[in-house]
Amino acid sequence: MNDHQPAIDTTVPHSARVWNYWLGGKDNYPVDREAGDQFLQAFPGIAQMARASRAYQERAVRHLAGELGIRQFLDVGTGLPTHNNTHEVAQSVAPDARIVYVDNDPLVLTHARALLTSTPEGRTQYVHADLYDPEAILEQAGELLDLDQPVGLMLLGVLGHVQEYDEAVSIVRRLLAGLPPGSYLTVSEGSNVHSEENVEAQDEYNESGAVPYIPRSPQQIGGYLEGLELVEPGVVSVTRWRPVVTGDNPPAEVDQYGGVGRKV
Ligand SMILES: C[S@@+](CC[C@H](N)C(=O)[O-])C[C@H]1O[C@@H](n2cnc3c(N)ncnc32)[C@H](O)[C@@H]1O
Repeated sequence: MNDHQPAIDTTVPHSARVWNYWLGGKDNYPVDREAGDQFLQAFPGIAQMARASRAYQERAVRHLAGELGIRQFLDVGTGLPTHNNTHEVAQSVAPDARIVYVDNDPLVLTHARALLTSTPEGRTQYVHADLYDPEAILEQAGELLDLDQPVGLMLLGVLGHVQEYDEAVSIVRRLLAGLPPGSYLTVSEGSNVHSEENVEAQDEYNESGAVPYIPRSPQQIGGYLEGLELVEPGVVSVTRWRPVVTGDNPPAEVDQYGGVGRKV
């Protein structure tokens, strides 16, 4: 963890803090709650989407650490600690799992200690770094992870913060370039197909001074995984990615799409 402590700006909403608010957390400021409430008013489904995305993350990590045997994770844009953080889920399956968390939010840095509660057999590390510098992320991640062995790269709710789609794709490619075959990419991003209110609420949020977030089509979200071998069921609304209980009807779709792919 870096010693340098960047300043926390409480005058504009921050993605990590607003997300934390929607997830029912307490690590946020009035400016975040105001922006979060405004979003909720225009699109009440956002809180459910946030929870659905976290539940998907948990299922994906469990599958990666379990059936797919992944022992190293690189979680970029990790957000404020909540329950079922990547290391908790991975190490509940594989106690020796190693996890590197990355975010560029100063408040996430101050709370990162909660992400560093590893099992004795495993290890966790936090890196304060920017998604726009994938090579620096890889270099620092390589201090804990063996980058000659497969890694589970997690990019959840962070690529929408890259305004230009082509640049977001390029960042994904550069991160994957530093990982060996047998590594997996897991993505989950806000989409724009099921609810106009969601897109409108997002447009309004993007005017707030916060770093904007761009919802993308399921095809664009699938584009992040292009060239990888998709794990079943492919790129779907996150509620439909290997749901634990299906019953007779599949779970309702939400405007958050995700998928997992293997580097070959
Ligand atoms: C919507 S939250 C998602 C948090 C978590 N991954 C999840 O899905 O629950 C987006 C996260 O990405 C982080 N983020 C945004 N832009 C970033 C950047 N350029 N570099 C690193 N992290 C970034 C934010 O600080 C925030 O924690």
